[in-house]
Amino acid sequence: MALGKVNNIAPVGTELYPSHVGIIMDGNGRWATKRGLPRTAGHYEGVKAAKRITTEASRLGIPYLTYYVFSTENWKRPQKEVDYLMNLLATRLYSEVDFYKRVGARVLIRGDFEKLNNAARDAIIATQEATADLDRLVVSLAINHGGHDEIVRSINRWLKTRNGDTPISETDIRSNLDLSFIPPVDLIIRSGGEKRLSNFMLWDAAYAEFAFYDTLWPDWGAKELKSACDDFAKRARRFGGVDS
Ligand code: IPE
Ligand code: IPE
Ligand code: MG
Repeated sequence: MALGKVNNIAPVGTELYPSHVGIIMDGNGRWATKRGLPRTAGHYEGVKAAKRITTEASRLGIPYLTYYVFSTENWKRPQKEVDYLMNLLATRLYSEVDFYKRVGARVLIRGDFEKLNNAARDAIIATQEATADLDRLVVSLAINHGGHDEIVRSINRWLKTRNGDTPISETDIRSNLDLSFIPPVDLIIRSGGEKRLSNFMLWDAAYAEFAFYDTLWPDWGAKELKSACDDFAKRARRFGGVDS
């Protein structure tokens, strides 16, 4: 995939804001259950929260945003819920093209796209094409994504180009990951109270900062993202070295 033009616009709050924010959007089901609604109603509201966060990320000048939409393990959910989520992709992704244009978001998919149904795949392809020239930020949607699966597929891609018995290197694995032009994630945010990665971007998370919040995903808005980025800006990242 070719490197998209991305404007690195000076962030509003601080120049120490993350370049790449990954978001584990958790808590949709609990949000709905608490209100006596079916879990799917939480997913519906979750899309609105993602739009609020994308708008704020665009305003803050965050160039890369990755949403965890559907994991390689989420196929284990009841068939009705899986169907609802796939249908949401098929119906609510392309229909938001005007929104992506307004905020300048190029939309790309990270994950094993081949296993999705035709309707979801068509919507994804159409959305990627319709937003290909937008360059304020890249919004990656991790769909049928798993950190383990991504590393295995990277190694399999590399094997096809392997020269003799050359051993694989870290650079080979990194450069064969999905959307490898996007830099490793700086800040991983998880809503909904759980403190785990659930197989999200494992290779690229090596030196990510983590931020866990109890607020359920459908209740997220601009304020929550800004506050997570402000907190990130205060952290000292050493990458194994010492403070200079
Ligand atoms: C996250 O919310 C969305 C997806 C995994 C698709 P959940 O559906 O996991 O919500 P909870 O964690 O059950 O509340
Ligand atoms: C992680 O949430 C996956 C997504 C947000 C898409 P889950 O709800 O599937 O994670 P677990 O099962 O609580 O670890
Ligand atoms: Mg969950």
